Amino acid sequence: MFYYYEKDNKILASQRAGLPYPQREPIPGAPIYYLVEGDPVLGRGSFKVNHPGQLKAPHGLEVLDASRLPEFPLDGPLSAALEAGQLTAVNTGRAGWESVLSAAPSAGKKRLNILAIGDVGSTLLTGLKLLGGDVLSSIGICDVSDQVTARWEFEMGQINLPWDYYAFPDVEVVPAEKLFDCDVFVFVASRGIPPVGSKVKDVRMAQFETNAAIVKQYAQMARAANFQGLWCAVSDPVDPLAKTAYLESNKDENGNWDGRGLRPEQVQGFGLGVMNARAAYYAKRDEKLASFLTEGRSFGPHGTGLWIANSIDHYDEAISRELTQKTVTANLWMRELGSSPMWPPPCPPGPCPSCSPSGGSGTAGRCSWTASLWGSRTAIPPPGWRPSCCPVSPTSSLGIFKRRRRN
Ligand SMILES: NC(=O)c1ccc[n+]([C@@H]2O[C@H](COP(=O)([O-])OP(=O)(O)OC[C@H]3O[C@@H](n4cnc5c(N)ncnc54)[C@H](O)[C@@H]3O)[C@@H](O)[C@H]2O)c1
Repeated sequence: MFYYYEKDNKILASQRAGLPYPQREPIPGAPIYYLVEGDPVLGRGSFKVNHPGQLKAPHGLEVLDASRLPEFPLDGPLSAALEAGQLTAVNTGRAGWESVLSAAPSAGKKRLNILAIGDVGSTLLTGLKLLGGDVLSSIGICDVSDQVTARWEFEMGQINLPWDYYAFPDVEVVPAEKLFDCDVFVFVASRGIPPVGSKVKDVRMAQFETNAAIVKQYAQMARAANFQGLWCAVSDPVDPLAKTAYLESNKDENGNWDGRGLRPEQVQGFGLGVMNARAAYYAKRDEKLASFLTEGRSFGPHGTGLWIANSIDHYDEAISRELTQKTVTANLWMRELGSSPMWPPPCPPGPCPSCSPSGGSGTAGRCSWTASLWGSRTAIPPPGWRPSCCPVSPTSSLGIFKRRRRN
């Protein structure tokens, strides 16, 4: 049996009777916020529900896989809300969970700010400038180097269509103190990428310490600005840096956790999209791997632990292993050619799908999962992530996650 309550003019649902809110009949067509319990730090924050079992097992990786989710029969109002995409789960264990009820994502085009404009940042900027006009109102750029931002503002400002001078979003320099005056913040700053030709084996993890220090600084700025938008982690190592942003933003000035920073669903790593695109590159060149192009999915992090499933309908372990191996080492092959990968990561332009009103239907990103970040196909309709739930997920993809979680 389910009980319905009202809070902040929103309908809450729970299996618990006697919660300290007025009881209320659900209104047909209105969104419902289903209260789940969970760890304040490691649990998910809020998310769109796309399978009833996710309400019973909201925090495990099983939410990606309908065949592993428990039975959880819903009543009429909850079923209707689920069907209409109006059912959101909210973890009441998190401090300030109530803010999810009043979150009002801005309608219309979004403002996106990029930190910083190095090789990847400038490529992303170019992609967003040319392709982001339907979802972006403007793009702000920030870097430690004023010369760099001045150059890119000047160059980008001169990209115009004849007689249609507002077709592309404006690019403007933003000072660090206004960096979080936006809907989408993209972190692509980095210090100390191992030079091409160096013997460093894991180029991504080698950057962790220095980049984490930069992330920490900006995560605290996001907290101070009460940033409510999306934090996109692009710098390496993507997953650990996304996690760093989440954890550091939620600490007070003494370094103690208070949960008053970014909610887990505000942070997304952007690294799986490029892995997915790389898998497609290999699949197009080898008939044996071609099933990926119509049936494949990518799971996991932006490096070791990634799993490319050739097909979620006709899964083949050997083909998936080959695709995974090729994809996970693609950046090393690029470096052997004498260059760092620069174009595929931001094109199609990184977080652009996140800006579309529907959230896009198939961006491959990753979101917070029991303190790990785990990638899967996701859509981002506000207010929470909606990782796509497969009918069945290949065991290898989930198994790798479990091993990672234990470590
Ligand atoms: N997610 C992906 O798919 C993907 C793909 C390729 C590269 N990357 C990663 O993206 C990151 C950027 O790569 P790149 O080639 O553009 O590097 P880059 O060295 O060309 O640029 C780094 C930029 O960061 C700026 N910067 C350094 N410290 C800063 C600070 N404290 N505050 C603000 N800006 C600062 C620098 O001025 C520079 O403009 C790297 O970590 C790289 O490994 C990610």
